[in-house]
Amino acid sequence: MVSRVIPVEVFDLVIFGGTGDLARRKILPGLYRRFVAGQMPPDSRIIGAARADLTEEAFRALVGEAIAEFVPPDRQDKAAIAAFLARIGYVSIDAKGTAGWDALRAVMRADVVRAFYFSVAPALFGDIAERLHAHGIADGQSRIVVEKPFGRDLASARALNVTLAQHFSEAQIYRIDHYLGKETVQNLMAVRFANILFEPLWKAEYIDHVQITVAETVGVEGRGAYYDKSGAMRDMVQNHLMQLLCLIAMEPPYHFDPDAVRDEKLKVIRALDPVRPEDIVRGQYLPGGGQGGYVEHSENPQSRTESYIALKCHISNWRWKGTPFYLRTGKRLRARASEIAITFKEPPHSIFDDAKGWRENVLVIRLQPNEGMNLMMMIKEPGPGGMRLMQVPLDMSFADALGADAEDIPDAYERLVMDVIRGNQTLFMRGDEVEAAWAWADPIIAGWEARGDRPQGYDPGSSGPEDALMLMHRDGRRWREIRE
Ligand SMILES: NC(=O)c1ccc[n+]([C@@H]2O[C@H](COP(=O)([O-])OP(=O)(O)OC[C@H]3O[C@@H](n4cnc5c(N)ncnc54)[C@H](OP(=O)(O)O)[C@@H]3O)[C@@H](O)[C@H]2O)c1
Repeated sequence: MVSRVIPVEVFDLVIFGGTGDLARRKILPGLYRRFVAGQMPPDSRIIGAARADLTEEAFRALVGEAIAEFVPPDRQDKAAIAAFLARIGYVSIDAKGTAGWDALRAVMRADVVRAFYFSVAPALFGDIAERLHAHGIADGQSRIVVEKPFGRDLASARALNVTLAQHFSEAQIYRIDHYLGKETVQNLMAVRFANILFEPLWKAEYIDHVQITVAETVGVEGRGAYYDKSGAMRDMVQNHLMQLLCLIAMEPPYHFDPDAVRDEKLKVIRALDPVRPEDIVRGQYLPGGGQGGYVEHSENPQSRTESYIALKCHISNWRWKGTPFYLRTGKRLRARASEIAITFKEPPHSIFDDAKGWRENVLVIRLQPNEGMNLMMMIKEPGPGGMRLMQVPLDMSFADALGADAEDIPDAYERLVMDVIRGNQTLFMRGDEVEAAWAWADPIIAGWEARGDRPQGYDPGSSGPEDALMLMHRDGRRWREIRE
């Protein structure tokens, strides 16, 4: 049963970059779904802003096309779409210019929540923040939503925090990491902190290791030149995988309160050890299957940027000392699959002769596809053949558990935008958290740049480079199979 939808307050949401890819694919279709669900009050408005000289009609048509393309057909309703489009406006604005800002101020209403989504290149974040303030469009209650990437290293992230802080307080800044908006990711907190079952075992004494995998089948074709400036470490590990690691490793916050949760996550990042060079494997996908490899897609034959990374992290605190966290993410892998797997240690003593049949207990949290959880348990093999053991999954698929309601689970962006309007920052990154994550990542990146490390080639459709397998094998462990 999906929980009751409680409408948020009436709002004016301005989407800078309202004509861009992210707005078309995620933000606008997501808002439509919240409108249909009754969570977006009908008096609310969404105002697109970009340089293009569009009429409101033309922008509405663009939003209509985005809904037609990115909302499942059975969720499209003509009357609802018309009512939603009636709530859409548009202002032509150059983030770096002066035109358009007064027009924007004129359409903003007093006494409703004002939110500004910066869905533009990060180089424009500072310009927009400054002009919103200078033109009196934002006030002390307004919220700004900032997209990723938040900096490309500690220095640039710090500079961006300083720029935003000149015009907005931390309580007004919502730094998006859309992984935190995923239903299963939040469920991770519910599983840990609403059940007594796992918490006593949730420590190095009982957990052998943790694997976090985010595997994609797509390459970087079409955006290779852009991707080549970042790579998997900056694009995925410093933010998304780090956030997942924090949610697994953090201490119970005293309350499910934004700062209490973020304080605990920050402590985890600060407790991370530096990663040794021999505990990192970087890869680039090779040509194959009639498609070019990474260097062709990035249009950079000399590229040393990684499209795959695997690394072993240690957290130096009482709870986790001695339990490695293995992270891996990559493009062009054998399946699109994201999961967290927590592998428990073996019982201290086996009373059964069938030692061969024994397998570890593993709690698998699947983020995509088929969101759900799986607990691998040992049971007796059925039948009269003596006391033989076998492993079976206790499987909880959200789709099965929730039935038709599963389709009403909001997508990450839908949930996060509604949280912005509600003024709830729990699922957004705080400035010090982002900086701490860069402070951990920077020396790792500087290390391979100084050594001139080259990523290892891997076949498209594989599980990644050979050396990544060795990273586990030499510890007597194995990666879980990457599969949908
Ligand atoms: N696309 C994704 O899946 C995705 C995923 C995660 C994060 N992000 C982040 O989201 C942000 C937007 O990405 P995107 O893919 O949507 O980019 P995009 O498709 O290139 O769109 C950029 C938008 O910004 C507008 N714009 C550009 N320069 C402007 C200026 N000087 N003043 C006002 N508006 C300007 C563009 O419209 P005009 O040219 O008409 O001004 C367009 O609407 C970026 O920070 C990106 O890193 C995107």
